[in-house]
Amino acid sequence: MVVAVEHIRRMRGGAQSHLMRCDDGGYYIVKFQNNPQHVRILANEMLGTKIAGCLGLRVPQMEVVEVRRELIELTAELVMQLGIGRTPCRAGRQFGSRYPGDPAQLAVHDFLPDEQLQQVENLAEFAGMLVFDKWTCNTNGRQAIFFLEPGRSRYQAMLIDQGFCFNAGEWNFPDAPLRGLYNRHGVYRHVTGMDSFEPWLSRVEERLSRSQLGELAGGIPPEWYNDEYGQLDELTRRLDQRRHGVRELILSARDSGRQPFPNWE
Ligand SMILES: Nc1ncnc2c1ncn2[C@@H]1O[C@H](COP(=O)(O)OP(=O)(O)O)[C@@H](O)[C@H]1O
Ligand SMILES: [Mg+2]
Repeated sequence: MVVAVEHIRRMRGGAQSHLMRCDDGGYYIVKFQNNPQHVRILANEMLGTKIAGCLGLRVPQMEVVEVRRELIELTAELVMQLGIGRTPCRAGRQFGSRYPGDPAQLAVHDFLPDEQLQQVENLAEFAGMLVFDKWTCNTNGRQAIFFLEPGRSRYQAMLIDQGFCFNAGEWNFPDAPLRGLYNRHGVYRHVTGMDSFEPWLSRVEERLSRSQLGELAGGIPPEWYNDEYGQLDELTRRLDQRRHGVRELILSARDSGRQPFPNWE
């Protein structure tokens, strides 16, 4: 766990997260327990990020970030803006997604123009992200960040925002053909068949046993799911069961009529 020492700025997005500097010298995008979406968003972020990492996808480092009451009281910006009025961010353990460098030195982009997008170094990984999103039933569009590491000429993509995996606060799996796709389908131009989803697809089918999923879930602070241990256990049980349905879900995306994979032979 790390402790937040300074508020830097508010971020865009429905969870109203904040960029904060922490006592390990790192900068983290912090999502608070009392975000306007659901407390379980934090649990989803942690479990989703760990699973994606185990599948070999590029994800930010993450940490549990302790935000103390004194810092919140001293920082006028640390509030949730509600329909009417505002309420202070809750103190305690929050989810932190590490900024991949120093924000003053390294620019991070939510979107890239098509030309740069096509040249992203790990573009083929978007197929792996889809495998992950189908498995976890991410009910939001896929989100990624892009940045140029010093000395490199091509952008790197990193998978962020797993808040709506497992259907956000619902913890169910309303599968639909277009769910989980990245909205710029050009990222799937490498996809020529089911093999293009390897090695991630086999990893979903063969790695991360039920008990390993349970171990990952066991690391989540219980206040991020209101101590509903039985429901968390049920979530990992259902994940374990649905791993063999991912191929079928990819085929239904292919056949959806939107043609996300124009180069599928
Ligand atoms: N690890 C990270 N490094 C840099 N920027 C990030 C990181 N995680 C999130 N962000 C930025 O913060 C914004 C909000 O984060 P996101 O996870 O998308 O929250 P929300 O659930 O509110 O959409 C993103 O649009 C992105 O710009
Ligand atoms: Mg987002």
